[in-house]
Amino acid sequence: MKWVVATHNLDKLQEILPLFDNFAVQLLSLDAFPEIGPIEETGTTLEENALIKARMVHSVTGLPTLADDTGLEVDVLGGEPGVRSARFSGPDATYADNVALLLERLGDHPPEARTARFRTVAAYVDGSLEQVTEGVVHGSITRSPHGSGGFGYDSVFRPEGHKDTFAQMSSANKQLISHRARAFGALVERLTLTLSSLHQKEAST
Ligand code: IMP
Repeated sequence: MKWVVATHNLDKLQEILPLFDNFAVQLLSLDAFPEIGPIEETGTTLEENALIKARMVHSVTGLPTLADDTGLEVDVLGGEPGVRSARFSGPDATYADNVALLLERLGDHPPEARTARFRTVAAYVDGSLEQVTEGVVHGSITRSPHGSGGFGYDSVFRPEGHKDTFAQMSSANKQLISHRARAFGALVERLTLTLSSLHQKEAST
């Protein structure tokens, strides 16, 4: 049984794949489907974008598809960059460009005014079933980047109750509390209850 994860992003894949260890499925990324070009994220919410990606890839491949969309919501910026997190500083923005713009926008705001959260919406689409779940982690934006792990805004996001940014944590420790792990953990729980036990290892061994 093959499923697709609707992304080319290796950073995301590395976080998503282990969460499906208990499913007797082989997860393929979009690299296995070169005929699928860039998918335009035209939605105005994370949920719309996650479903756009999952439905589109399912319609082309015919395979059950997982997708996610993530936003960093900074309170003092009115929830920005939010759904525009990937393109915050322009259409071809790099992670470093986006981090630089975020720090510039936050300027000298003190720690208590730098609160933020990562929100991930995870989606599953297989033609007869659609499931959507959400995962959130609260924290704050540091004054400068710290750490070299992770990706995206990890070097400036310090989760609540922790002294390290996500980029200073091991990937295993990020995985314990991250927005993406929470969203996909909830999706796994939902799918475990909903899908035929044929997809699950325990039932097939
Ligand atoms: P996407 O639309 O789900 O690919 O995520 C939008 C942007 O949010 C990405 O380009 C990254 O900059 C950022 N992002 C997503 N997930 C994470 C994360 O786990 N840590 C840090 N930044 C992230």
